[in-house]
Amino acid sequence: MSTLIKGADLLGRGRADVLVRDGRVAEIGTLTAPAGAETVDADGLILLPGLVDLHTHLREPGREDAETVLTGTQAAAKGGYTAVCAMANSYPVADTAGVVEQVAALGRAAGYADVQPIGAVSIGLAGERLAELGAMADSAARVRIFSDDGHCVHDPRLMRRALEYVKTFGGLIAQHAEEPRLTEGAEMNEGAVSAELGLPGWPSVAEEAIVARDVLLAEYVGSRVHFCHISTARTVEIIREAKARGVDVTAEVCPHHLLLTDEAAHSYDPVFKVNPPLRTDRDVAALRAALAEGVVDAVATDHAPHAPQDKDCEWAAARPGMLGLETALSITVAALGGPEDCDWDTVAERTSRAPARIASLPGHGRDPEPGAEANLTLVDPSESWTVVPSELASLSQNTPYAGMELPVTVQATFLRGRATVLDGKLVEETE
Ligand code: NCD
Repeated sequence: MSTLIKGADLLGRGRADVLVRDGRVAEIGTLTAPAGAETVDADGLILLPGLVDLHTHLREPGREDAETVLTGTQAAAKGGYTAVCAMANSYPVADTAGVVEQVAALGRAAGYADVQPIGAVSIGLAGERLAELGAMADSAARVRIFSDDGHCVHDPRLMRRALEYVKTFGGLIAQHAEEPRLTEGAEMNEGAVSAELGLPGWPSVAEEAIVARDVLLAEYVGSRVHFCHISTARTVEIIREAKARGVDVTAEVCPHHLLLTDEAAHSYDPVFKVNPPLRTDRDVAALRAALAEGVVDAVATDHAPHAPQDKDCEWAAARPGMLGLETALSITVAALGGPEDCDWDTVAERTSRAPARIASLPGHGRDPEPGAEANLTLVDPSESWTVVPSELASLSQNTPYAGMELPVTVQATFLRGRATVLDGKLVEETE
């Protein structure tokens, strides 16, 4: 099976044709389609390495009323993703080889994106005893990232043991940084808006205290550490300083923290309730600058679909979390200066290459070059779109961007050469 991607803009290399054969890039240049090849007209489109998400809640097993591996990976493909890392807070929790293998198998059966399960750090995400990290790493799912996301590994002794353990096989702990004693009962960012609305606050220091502690722990044990969804200006400074000292630390930021602020809570619409919470203009500006600069390594969606009964209720009763997969690229481009002014190489680095490196997914995050797996995304930089929740591929509709016009559209996504999205639409037939 071969496909000729005709006349795409290749980052830093100008316009070229890319021939994809048997799942890999075969040739790049001025090419004519071989007999039997499909041709995709990429005039005016930018060819990116397929996007990689470090932080996706697929909800299966257990909450298939909110999302399934199939619908979540369809949303991923529409967003330009070729690989997603599935968070462990499913029901049952992904804390054994059996569960992670099941999630990986569901991903293969769906066929829309590679699904790399993340294993829990602690049994049942309870923060007490280490889960079977080695068994998950040795399993067919080959787990490399472990996270209790949704919960912080707040016991410093457990965190130390986890960092030591994964070091032996090149694994990574992805920390949800939230000191739980400082966020008890919290509903939104602690600040002027929470005071005005009378909602209990989630102080930024609850994140920063854990990030600072874990930088020191990782440095002490000589392990690497990754921080999920960082949300404050001070966290950026702690990570900047740690990197300058040579600590092996990486961090991700979510699109919503690059665009929205706690002012959105004035609506009392629970679609804006998320953990960590939306912060202030100052935090948004610091996160954008850190993303451009590379202090923040990657954009990760924290795609958190929720069923209507968990969101269409009053703020305090609603679950935190918002959709992200289908809007992440647009918001990243906007946050980096817009389609005309952003550095597209930086977009590729933060949404694809860096997350693929962090997740140890060598087949992903590779620019088109002969021999590389053809995990690729074609983007139209000149087309914008309006977010209509009912038109999203996700089973849930809790997007905070409903009705917003966003820049750039994903025209095609190729997973090992096979189109999962063409002309901006899902290809329904998969193998
Ligand atoms: C996450 C979810 O829904 O699984 N929600 C969120 O707001 N990010 C888990 C969590 O981090 O609370």
